[in-house]
Amino acid sequence: MGRQGHIRLGVNIDHVATLRQVRGNTTTYPDMIKIMNLAIRGGADQITIHLREDRRHIQEFDVLNITRDSTVDVNLEMGANEVMTKIALKYLPAWVCLVPEKRAELTTEGGLDLFRSEHRVRRVISLVQPKGIEVSLFIEPSLRQVEQAHALGADACEFHTGKWVLLQDKRAKQKEWRRLCDAARLCHELGMRVHAGHGLDVPHVKKVRQLPYLVELNIGHSIICDAVEKGIENSVKQMKSLL
Ligand code: PXP
Repeated sequence: MGRQGHIRLGVNIDHVATLRQVRGNTTTYPDMIKIMNLAIRGGADQITIHLREDRRHIQEFDVLNITRDSTVDVNLEMGANEVMTKIALKYLPAWVCLVPEKRAELTTEGGLDLFRSEHRVRRVISLVQPKGIEVSLFIEPSLRQVEQAHALGADACEFHTGKWVLLQDKRAKQKEWRRLCDAARLCHELGMRVHAGHGLDVPHVKKVRQLPYLVELNIGHSIICDAVEKGIENSVKQMKSLL
């Protein structure tokens, strides 16, 4: 495990919906189902979407369309609350990933504190697991948090890699990498799956794929940005050919 070729890739397509929503959902493009199918053709093992409380990108109709049409697992990232639990139970994604959510944040800025959110997390798990939905908890690479995830009955921990990615200082980065490795080992020893994600780009994926027992990465922003860089020339050529 943790070897190249054995790690599932969840492709987070939230930012495609961001592009649609900045025009107030008045355009028929980008078509989320088309993008989903292209990601699957590219090898995505899973489609990951985050239905945020402020609905800044993914809308409830996207959850409906994507869970209905996807030929691979759908991983629904969501806050641990009653409203979102009802939505998960309605559309039955393969996975739910519980994340902390602050309204003003640009993206998910830290992991869940499973001590402060213990009751809410326990309740969501107790409602969705009996319906066949597996639950991962998005946490910092902390041994305490991993133990608590196990106590709460999680199927997987998704380790927040964002801090590690952004660290510039070499020693601090190595220290954070060791924290990720220790947390991953404990997660596996306790019988949970090791997932990771946030802020990952090509150079960091070349390293993070060495994380012990890693079975899944969820990656969004860098893939969508790369797609824009690789695609814009052809898109401009198409317009230009009409003039
Ligand atoms: N995993 C989780 C739990 C997330 O909240 C996000 C961001 O929505 C990602 C993975 C993907 O992060 P990024 O878009 O930075 O690749």
